[in-house]
Amino acid sequence: MLKLSDIKSSEEELREYYEQLRSQHVSPLWLGGGISLEPKSKAIPYVWHWRDLRPQAMRAAQLVGTEQAERRVLRLTNPELPGASASNTLVANIQIVMPGEIARAHRHTAAALRLIIEGKGGYTVVNGHRIPMHPGDLVLTPNWTWHDHANDTDAPMIWLDGLDTPLVRMLEGGFYEEYDMETQAVGEGADPPPQWHYPMSQARAALERLAAERGGSPANPIVLDYTNPLTGGPTMPTIACQIQLLRPGEHTLAHRRVCCANHHVIEGSGYSLVGGRRLDWEEKDVFTVPTWTFHEHVNTGDRPALLFSFTDAPVMKALELYREEAKAR
Ligand SMILES: [Fe+2]
Repeated sequence: MLKLSDIKSSEEELREYYEQLRSQHVSPLWLGGGISLEPKSKAIPYVWHWRDLRPQAMRAAQLVGTEQAERRVLRLTNPELPGASASNTLVANIQIVMPGEIARAHRHTAAALRLIIEGKGGYTVVNGHRIPMHPGDLVLTPNWTWHDHANDTDAPMIWLDGLDTPLVRMLEGGFYEEYDMETQAVGEGADPPPQWHYPMSQARAALERLAAERGGSPANPIVLDYTNPLTGGPTMPTIACQIQLLRPGEHTLAHRRVCCANHHVIEGSGYSLVGGRRLDWEEKDVFTVPTWTFHEHVNTGDRPALLFSFTDAPVMKALELYREEAKAR
């Protein structure tokens, strides 16, 4: 019987063989794409500072009209990812709508969230429901919901957009459609559907209640999941949202999870240690934590810091890929 160790092929034979395979669009597994013992993200930990982002958003508003751009959006691009996204499966973008402007109605199968950063209260219309947008509010436009945005105030509206477009693109499941009018008709009277609107006032009250109950200890982080009131599950099938209160001086325990996470600093200042890098952050900054990367957050300010984050954890959980691990001390 022929043993593997008896095989003696010449370089010439192998070269010819590989050449043939290439021409037939076949690839030998043993030559590459090695096995990874654990997830290794191409994305790197990175922070985008509001002091840079805001002037560029305002500049975009001067340079580019709403006729030229379906949405006036600046994409935060992770330096090591080939696509224009902050993280592997999720984008984190900055959108600006100036006074009197609208962003016309459309829908897509990519799911989207908005975390309002700045403004005096424009609104988004989701499937005919008008949803107010105040700083810190979370507004959702899930998969295939019609949505348009408007700013009827005298100040710019700027928000963080989070979408699962890289995931949808990878899954080749993207559909897009424009509405037949610029804006949707708005129904009268009814409150906005609660599964699409999570006001900052409620999140803040819930965090403060939890902080009062728990007191202060690194083992007891003050963190809340936003849950869909209709399902009790995450905000959307592909994106989970959380908000964390860091007490002054708090330094969280390091852990890592199989999900990518984008964070937005609603209030406060501090830094995060993410995969050995120090990301200093201030109010309204955005930073990204790649999957399976140890991270810990530190509030260096003299008042509570509020961190909003969104992750692809629901996808990882649905596919039974989710894990988390505390760092050994
Ligand atoms: Fe959209």
